[in-house]
Amino acid sequence: MVLPFKLSIAQDSCEAEKDFAKEILDQVARKKNSLIGLATGQTMIGVYEILIKKEHKSPGLFKEVVFAQLDEIIPNSDRENLFSLQLKEGFLNRLKGGYASFLSIDVSKPDLTLEASRYLSLIASLGGIDLQILGIGVNGHVGYNEPGSKKDSRCRVVKLAPTTIERAGYTSGMQGITLGISDILKSKRIALLATGIDKAAAISGAIKSTPSIDNPASLLVTHNMIKIILDSSAGSFLTN
Ligand code: PGA
Repeated sequence: MVLPFKLSIAQDSCEAEKDFAKEILDQVARKKNSLIGLATGQTMIGVYEILIKKEHKSPGLFKEVVFAQLDEIIPNSDRENLFSLQLKEGFLNRLKGGYASFLSIDVSKPDLTLEASRYLSLIASLGGIDLQILGIGVNGHVGYNEPGSKKDSRCRVVKLAPTTIERAGYTSGMQGITLGISDILKSKRIALLATGIDKAAAISGAIKSTPSIDNPASLLVTHNMIKIILDSSAGSFLTN
């Protein structure tokens, strides 16, 4: 199979997380004041732990980096933990030498369409995203671009897919706000990480099928600087 993008398949999830963390460290080595788009989700937890350990050995490693969030939930109750808080508590606040700033989506604003365009303008005013990191949903979603999201979609309020709601234990009808596929494609580089057998079908759909709104990740594979990092379980449907 000749692939138009870089693909690496590590033996296990730990190796895949290390390879993925290296993509972020390489970006910071190339450009100290990079704008890096961060993703939440189980897949990224190990990656942030690796980055924190590296930073504790070299405090200040990220001190010029501007971080931004990819997506956010619109909470229905206090029980739901905002992604911006998860990113702060799980990663940013644990950096000894700090970071330049964190761009976040303010879901308490009364007009979220306005907030989405403010967020996009802010990112554009800083020169755009240098590296956007991504996980993938079991249905192929990237950020909260659920199946049906178009290639020209922008930052917007979205309804979460039933599988997304179920997996996260959210209440039905839950909404989110996400950078669109078109916004993600504007990033100078994209790195996508998938681990575990649950992601094998979504990865196979993204890589082996014709790009389609049915699998939003498939709309990204034409980006000229995308790297996809998998463990052998997530890559297990690619060989047959
Ligand atoms: P997960 O989420 O890492 O928790 O599976 C990934 C995603 O939905 O993008």
